[in-house]
Amino acid sequence: MDRLRLGIIGTGSVVREIYRHLYFHSDYSRLLSVEAAADPSAAALSAFCDPYGIPLDRRYSSYVEMMSGTELDAVQVNTPDSLHEEPTVRALRSGLDVLVPKPLADTIGAAHAMIDAARTSGRLLVVDFHKRDDPRIREAAARYRRGDYGEYQCSVWYMLDKLMVADPNHEPRFFASPDFVEKNSPISFLTVHMADALLSIIGLRPVTVRASSWNQKLASLRPISSKGCDMCDTEVTFENGGIAHILTGWHLPNSAHATTVQSARLICTNGMVDLGLDTPGFRELAAEGIQERNPLFRNFEPDGSVSGYGISRPGRLYGKLLRARRGEMPAQERDQLLDPVELGFWTTVILQAAEKSLASGDCLPGGATRGAQVDVEALVREELGGDAAAYL
Ligand SMILES: NC(=O)c1ccc[n+]([C@@H]2O[C@H](COP(=O)([O-])OP(=O)(O)OC[C@H]3O[C@@H](n4cnc5c(N)ncnc54)[C@H](O)[C@@H]3O)[C@@H](O)[C@H]2O)c1
Repeated sequence: MDRLRLGIIGTGSVVREIYRHLYFHSDYSRLLSVEAAADPSAAALSAFCDPYGIPLDRRYSSYVEMMSGTELDAVQVNTPDSLHEEPTVRALRSGLDVLVPKPLADTIGAAHAMIDAARTSGRLLVVDFHKRDDPRIREAAARYRRGDYGEYQCSVWYMLDKLMVADPNHEPRFFASPDFVEKNSPISFLTVHMADALLSIIGLRPVTVRASSWNQKLASLRPISSKGCDMCDTEVTFENGGIAHILTGWHLPNSAHATTVQSARLICTNGMVDLGLDTPGFRELAAEGIQERNPLFRNFEPDGSVSGYGISRPGRLYGKLLRARRGEMPAQERDQLLDPVELGFWTTVILQAAEKSLASGDCLPGGATRGAQVDVEALVREELGGDAAAYL
């Protein structure tokens, strides 16, 4: 087998911004053959299929029909977070391998169902947390694990998008789904990136989660306002007493120096790490003003190919799926791929705990919400009952 025969489920903004480059213009494109695509939105489907000549009879409004009508080895599930579970479980049970963009799922129950379906079907499930391939995060993780900084104590993470990402008045709209910002908070869209990056560095298990949110800027937009949340702070405590604050949102002025303004500072007993994630050393002064460009994430090469960790992380995961299909993957590596930590189970736990914290919090006059503290172990037990033992 030279290439994985791939079906694409969901062809919205993440496909436009990242995955079409992976499928058709990257060093990893030779591993893949995009056989078919499914999306109930005809506009999203043709925006993806037309430029790449995907035949009309390989374009489906239903992924169920795509799976039964096309010979496939794997699918990529690019639907909104709350819709990862159903296509993933169906695909795994139909004998297909699956890649999902982060997060694995938006609830602990859905994450467990997906992990369980992978284990019982014997197929592989992989999650594209692209920050795990950012060389700065990898280096910080390697040095932390080696003991260079001592014991983790505190960290603060920022990931704040320009308003244009969430603004329903911005043309063209960033998200294909018109209600994306109301159905997906900055916690599900952005906090999960930073939570996963932190977990990949320190390798500690979360103990409590408490979130705060601000619903002020998006509500004031005209002519269309949004019920979505501007910004959230997710406070996570860990088993060693360490604390993290993860601040994420999508309401910075469009004049910001990067589409995503992001950084982190970690403080440990023997040292400190500053991750200037949005200052990779390429500052541009052009007609639109000063912009920080991040070629580490997504780099358009002179030969038309696209590189960077946004591409290499899913590309390497597809390399693994192909090796497994060829029978070249040792059992130990396969088991490691299906480990809950590798699959981002604890990141989904932080996500659900933060959403629960806000739902049971106090709404203050003026649009701020101070969430209640959520005990992580109790939440996992509440959601999974007897199955919780597999994770605790
Ligand atoms: N890797 C990253 O950094 C990154 C970036 C953006 C989004 N994401 C993730 O990618 C996923 C999709 O996000 P997006 O930004 O593309 O959202 P989007 O709303 O722009 O696109 C989602 C697409 O899924 C389609 N869809 C909905 N139900 C479907 C179904 N039953 N079958 C097939 N298609 C269906 C919608 O019509 C839409 O075209 C989310 O999980 C999101 O968190 C990851």
